[in-house]
Amino acid sequence: MSLERTLTIIKPDGVEQGNIGDIIQVLEKNHFKIKAAKMLQLTNSAAGGFYAVHRERSFFNDLVRYMSSGPVLILVLEAENAVSRLRDLMGATDPRKAAEGTIRKRFATSIEKNVIHGSDSAENAKIEIGYFFNALELV
Ligand code: CMP
Repeated sequence: MSLERTLTIIKPDGVEQGNIGDIIQVLEKNHFKIKAAKMLQLTNSAAGGFYAVHRERSFFNDLVRYMSSGPVLILVLEAENAVSRLRDLMGATDPRKAAEGTIRKRFATSIEKNVIHGSDSAENAKIEIGYFFNALELV
């Protein structure tokens, strides 16, 4: 076990539906510490840069449009094995395939409006954290 950081984004649907409190409660009850927080409305270019790895995918333009459609809450979380534990709590990308009790099963409405993002590896977590936060903003 190792203490690790990951990046999560409560997406526009989660913010709009009023799920911020419920999602943070799940995270804190599961022993994630919030190390940084920022609420932003992403520009198209900021969302496109964040999801650049998906730029060849058919859903890229819709994803960028959606992620810049309203405010998002971006958090840096720290916990033992944070990357994989967060992804377990989030559930599958498609909420129809997500396990009972997971965040996406509870709150998400579609594969696009899937309420929450979580880094997929420790290496990408470092890149994603650096995309949104500088050293002074991390406690
Ligand atoms: P996320 O974990 O933030 O990473 C990439 C996002 O692209 C993913 O969540 C979904 O919101 C979105 N996504 C992935 N696959 C599809 C798909 N087949 N159709 C639409 N959006 C998708």
